[in-house]
Parts: sequence; structure tokens; C-alpha cells
Amino acid sequence: MINRLSNKKKIGFCYRWCCIALMAYAVNAAGSPDGSTMKAGLIGARFDGAGVEEIVTRLIDEGFRQKVASDVMPELVWKNLGEHLEAAGISFAGLLSSLDEGNGSQPYHREVIFRSKDYPGLHNKTVQFAIVAIVLSPGQETVTHDHFVECGPLLVEGEITEVYGYTDQLAITGTRVAILDKRRKLRKFLPIQYFRPDQKNTHRLQEGTGNRPSIVLNLYVESEGNSIKNRFLKLLGIDRESGAEWWLQ
Ligand SMILES: [Fe+2]
Repeated sequence: MINRLSNKKKIGFCYRWCCIALMAYAVNAAGSPDGSTMKAGLIGARFDGAGVEEIVTRLIDEGFRQKVASDVMPELVWKNLGEHLEAAGISFAGLLSSLDEGNGSQPYHREVIFRSKDYPGLHNKTVQFAIVAIVLSPGQETVTHDHFVECGPLLVEGEITEVYGYTDQLAITGTRVAILDKRRKLRKFLPIQYFRPDQKNTHRLQEGTGNRPSIVLNLYVESEGNSIKNRFLKLLGIDRESGAEWWLQ
């Protein structure tokens, strides 16, 4: 049809469509009054794990040169990871987009960001481990659980309170009880405690502010990033004096 138009009309037709396209671009670039364009931009800003990969592989290579045994290499990485992430200015904000996209029935977002098994050059330097980012919405908490593997938590964004204690197994009934009578705030980029898989590593992580999301990296000495041995879902009670919580499953 456009071929049947006069040159003057063709120019006018093209001019109008160019104006519409330019207006659409300008509105998108400026953002809507409620900031939805900015939000969409953040959703698109995916987390780039290359910075973490570079730091972790460098720490392992340095440890290997210092003759660090392969079975203690993951703990060495965990102890030094925070200060290197901070010095390099690694941003984890891209992981927050997982909260905006929603995760169905999942109570919180969990994302494997490093697996040593994916790097053949590391196989003779370390036992296999994985680093998993746990992203919590404001006020959200993980399920209370213990681990069958070594576990090193490291706060990288926001505030997180850790509630922790121990797990007991009553020999006669076979009932597992978790008593969480301690709590502490994780400190950003500072390793606090590296858990061994025993009866004293039962915990849950809570977003601490109630109004901002948070991210913690957990290093697990397990190739796929799996870690949980038991989940404790049922709250029995809280002791008023000690603040201890009893969980039974
Ligand atoms: Fe854990």
C-alpha cells in the first residue's frame, strides 16, 4: 500500500512512525513515576559469578603452592573469601532479582554459584566443594536444619541473624530433638564459625531487619551443593529463662 502513496505522504508516514518509536524509547529510558522501569532494569541485571570464580581458584592455587592439604582447602577458601570479595568489590545485587521473579512454593531462593568439580585443574588440589548463595526476603528465614557435610556461612549482603544450637537423638524413641538456645548476628564478609557435621551444627538463618533482603554464601564440602541432613519443622516451645527453642521431628 505504501508504494501507492506520493513521496510527500511517504515522508509524512515515516516521520510519524519515527516519532512514535522515539517517544517509546524516551519513556522507557526515563522510567515510569512508580519506578517500574528501574525495577525491570534490576531484574535484568543478572549476577555474574566470574569474580567469585577468579577469587576462589586463585585462593586454591595459592594454597596449593603453600602445600595445603586437599581436605582442608575448602576451609582455607572460606576463611579468606570474604576479605577478597570485599576488596574486589564483588556485587551480589543481581541475585536479588530471584526474589522479584517469585519461586512458587520455595520459601527462599537457593543458587549454586561455584562447584570445584567444574574446574578440572582443581581436582588434585582440593576435595570437592560448592558455594551456594541463599537469598532471603525481608523477614524470611530458612528451615531449621543440620548438616551431613562441613558448612561455612558468609554474609555478603544485608543483615542475618543465626539461631543455632544442637541436635540430639533419643536412643529409645529414635526421636530427633533440636534445641536452639543461642543466636548471633553474622558479620558481613567476616567468617565466624565453620561447622563440622556433628550434633552442634543445627541452625536456621533469619533476615534480620524485616524490611530488606539479605544474601549469605554457604560453602559446603559436597560436590553438588547439597547439605541438609535433617529438617526440623515443628516448634514445641520456648523456655522463658534461656530463650531456648525445642524442635521435634
Ligand atoms: Fe545450614
